[in-house]
Amino acid sequence: DLMKEIIGIHKAEKQLSEHLGIAETIIVPGDSDKMPLIKDEIGKACARRLAALLDEKNTITVTGGTTMGSVAKALMDINVAGKEMLFVPARGGVGGKVSDQANSICAAMAENTGGTHRVLYVPDEVSDELRSILLKEPSINNTLSLIRSADIVLHGIGEAMKMAERRNTDEESMDKIMKGQAVGEAFGYYFDLDGNIVHKVSTIGLQLKDLPRFKHVIAAAGGKSKAKAIRSYMKNAPKSTVLVTDEGAAAEILKEE
Ligand code: G3H
Repeated sequence: DLMKEIIGIHKAEKQLSEHLGIAETIIVPGDSDKMPLIKDEIGKACARRLAALLDEKNTITVTGGTTMGSVAKALMDINVAGKEMLFVPARGGVGGKVSDQANSICAAMAENTGGTHRVLYVPDEVSDELRSILLKEPSINNTLSLIRSADIVLHGIGEAMKMAERRNTDEESMDKIMKGQAVGEAFGYYFDLDGNIVHKVSTIGLQLKDLPRFKHVIAAAGGKSKAKAIRSYMKNAPKSTVLVTDEGAAAEILKEE
C-alpha cells in the first residue's frame, strides 16, 4: 500500500545518501528512461527542495540539459513571493538544442519565478588563449564573478558518451574518454566508474574545485541509464550535495552495493 511505499522510498533515500556519501537524496517514484514524464517529477522535487533553501536574495547558478529544463518548468508552481531570484548560467554553450543551454534554462527560470537572469554568450569549450582574452571582457568577467558568488548551484549529470556527442568532441578527446572508460560527465569533467577524472574540457564556467565553496549544491539526474554516471560523479561531489533522482537510477545504484 501507499504508506509502505512511502516508508520504502524513505529507507532507500537514506541508503542511497550513505552509499554515495552525500548529505541527502530525494527519490521520486518511477524511471524517467521508461516514462519521460518522470523527468518532470524530478524537476518538481528539485524545485520544491530549492524553494526550501531560499533566502530573501538568491543567486543561483545553473547548468544545462533536459533535466534542468524540467526544473525550470516546475519553478512555475513554486511560490517565491517577496524573494529576489537571480539565475546565472554556470557554463557557456554546449552543442545540441538551444532550449537545453544553460543560458536558455536561466532565462526560463527567471521568467517562471519573476526573477532576473544573466547570460554567458561564450562557447563552453575554450582554448587557454581564448580564455585569457575573454576574461578581459567586463560582461563575461562580471558573469563569472556572479557564478562564483552564487548561493546555490543547480546542475545535471550526464552520461559520458552522450555528453561527448552533444559536445561534438574531437577525436583525440574522444579517445581519452573511451580509453578511460568514462561513464559520467558534469561541468565538463568526465569520470570513470571509480570517480577518476579521465578527461576535462577546458571550459570557462564553473569548475569542480569551486563546488565545495557553495552553501548549497543540488544535483538532478534520473533514469536507470544514468546510474553509473551518478555514481562516478558523486565520488567527486561535495559532501553537502543534495541529489534528486528517480527510482530507476536509485535501484540500479543500490544493486551495485
Ligand atoms: O550536465 C549534464 C547534462 O547536461 C545532463 O543533461 O539532463 O539532458 O540528461 P540531461
